[in-house]
Amino acid sequence: MEESILSVSSERAERRKVNPSKKFVKSAYVKSLREYNKIYNESVKNPAKFWGEKAKQLHWFKKWKTVFKYSKKPFVKWFEGGKINVSYNCLDRHLTTWRKNKAALIWQGEPEEDSRTYTYVELHREVCKFANVLKRKGIRKGDRVCLYMPMIPEIAIAMLACTRIGAIHSIVFGGYSAESLRKRIKDSEAKMLITADGSLRKGKPMPLKDKADSVLGKCRSVKNVIVCKRANIKVKMNKRRDFWWHEEMKDASPFCKAVEMDAEDPLFILYTSGTTGTPKGVLHTTGGYLVYVYQTTKWVFDLKDDDTYWCTADVGWITGHSYIVYGPLANGATSLMFEGVPTYPEPDRFWQIVEKYKVNVFYTAPTVVRALEREGKKWVDKHDLSSLRLLGSVGEPINPDAWNWYYNVIGKRKCPIVDTWWQTETGGILITPLPGAMPLKPGSATMPFPGVVPAILKEDGSEAAANEGGDLVIKKSWPGIGRTVWKNPKRYIDVYFSKFPDYYLAGDAAKKDKDGYFWIMGRIDDVVNVSGHRIGTAEVESALVSHKTVAESAVVPMSHEIKGQCLYAFVTLKRGVKKSDKLKIELVKHVARVIGHIAKPEKVQFADALPKTRSGKIMRRILKAIVEGKKDVGDTTTLADASVVKTLIREKEK
Ligand code: WT7
Repeated sequence: MEESILSVSSERAERRKVNPSKKFVKSAYVKSLREYNKIYNESVKNPAKFWGEKAKQLHWFKKWKTVFKYSKKPFVKWFEGGKINVSYNCLDRHLTTWRKNKAALIWQGEPEEDSRTYTYVELHREVCKFANVLKRKGIRKGDRVCLYMPMIPEIAIAMLACTRIGAIHSIVFGGYSAESLRKRIKDSEAKMLITADGSLRKGKPMPLKDKADSVLGKCRSVKNVIVCKRANIKVKMNKRRDFWWHEEMKDASPFCKAVEMDAEDPLFILYTSGTTGTPKGVLHTTGGYLVYVYQTTKWVFDLKDDDTYWCTADVGWITGHSYIVYGPLANGATSLMFEGVPTYPEPDRFWQIVEKYKVNVFYTAPTVVRALEREGKKWVDKHDLSSLRLLGSVGEPINPDAWNWYYNVIGKRKCPIVDTWWQTETGGILITPLPGAMPLKPGSATMPFPGVVPAILKEDGSEAAANEGGDLVIKKSWPGIGRTVWKNPKRYIDVYFSKFPDYYLAGDAAKKDKDGYFWIMGRIDDVVNVSGHRIGTAEVESALVSHKTVAESAVVPMSHEIKGQCLYAFVTLKRGVKKSDKLKIELVKHVARVIGHIAKPEKVQFADALPKTRSGKIMRRILKAIVEGKKDVGDTTTLADASVVKTLIREKEK
């Protein structure tokens, strides 16, 4: 039997290595550690040469002058002088090859009978048509278009249509609330909203257009709304503003020239949570981003032309942008997109889809692996998963137990697992195995992608020794790095380039072992990773405080068996408000209304007082210790009133 390394020391975990099989190595792009080291060393010695060569594999209307240079540190330009179009590279480039009739996108709807396949020619046609719809509605290069959509092919079509004409898309995950949508529309001053009547979730229609309507009155920048039919929900259409997707598409021309974009022209904005109440609009630009997702998709997923590749993320997150749409299509791959959830109608849905489409490469999150592991092996055994040859993981560290299950039960001990570390801001994967080259160490994202130079720094800026924890930074620029925070370059510098001005600060703690393997240890800031989604505690606190009964709140992470982490909220009520379980439920609902269901606290504890310093700062370190049930909550001498801690421990939520 496979040894469980759940309980062994981290030192033993470090020593455990899993090698790719001979068969896997035989066809892999990068076949050995030696080969990787050679590529890596050359890439770091001469990044301009390395990235220039990779970029050449894409189609440029005009070649760049310089591969990269700093305009004014930390602001960087990649492929300056080059002209390129993302939609052209994802579509047109393949139409003159045998791939024109290859499946580009396979879509599986939540109901089993809903599925569609688009070949490259067909996808190209839809994208051109929709690009013409955008133009007809007055969308021009540089305009922002907000997408608030379900996981349907139209979201990919809309993205590619935007990039075709140079419009900047900003996707808001469909699970976010109307209020979150409003904030993001306002910040980006989007001229158009593309949405749907609703989405399907476990067989139930969930409104999107209605939700959007509740705030559109306050979004003056939005001139038009395009609505896709999906969930059979009756919606109100504002005659002058709102239009049906299918009606607009009817007479749209299938010819639309791709605009020649400067390599550094904005491509998309994607909002992500930080340490303040306001999310950051991370801006990615055209040429560098595409080169980066192209090359990482190819090498990390070892993607071959006959692969069916499935990334289970939502397109609303960066993973969906980079590894459902842009990376795979730039490679001419077949990308599978699934609308539903892993456990509906039964907990074998994912495995049923793997079997149905003979999926070869499967990329998901540890939270999904844990949730499905709990459902039991019997659901896996109902299906033939023999098509799988490579597995991927993203979003949080994968714990050894989940790793073992993924490796043994899903991969049948023949599929390497690529544990990919990256972020919304990095555009693509930075630390990861190249699956044919690296012996894996379960729990480690292993080594940097070629061209990427990570380091672990101590507080004084010096490099940590082997196995010593510290701040994970990236020392050199890479083509996929987010270029700024939309309309807020100062925040970009403050967040990523002020602690160690010459390096990109990831916001994660990590260590590097003696063999050069990286181990990610979690966030260093007040950001919580719930099921692989980033939630800023400040955002949740401000949502709670916006409720009429709440005076103050402090939200901290708590470990969770399936989600990895969840949110635990301490709430001080206004004077005279009665504490009740009903109110707790109401507060949780309130957070869902303000931010979205993904930000709902798992537990709410009423606290008459919070542990504060004499200057009034809430001591989160103590709250975290209380929540985790630590016997010793640490130094409490700086607290204004140390008795507060005892009360909180006594009243802790079970
Ligand atoms: C944060 C970024 C990257 C797409 C999904 C999340 C955590 C991500 C890993 C991994 C350990 C990971 C980090 C990172 N994270 N992947 N393989 N191992 N931690 O994107 O919302 O921008 O979150 O997710 O803490 O900083 P995101």
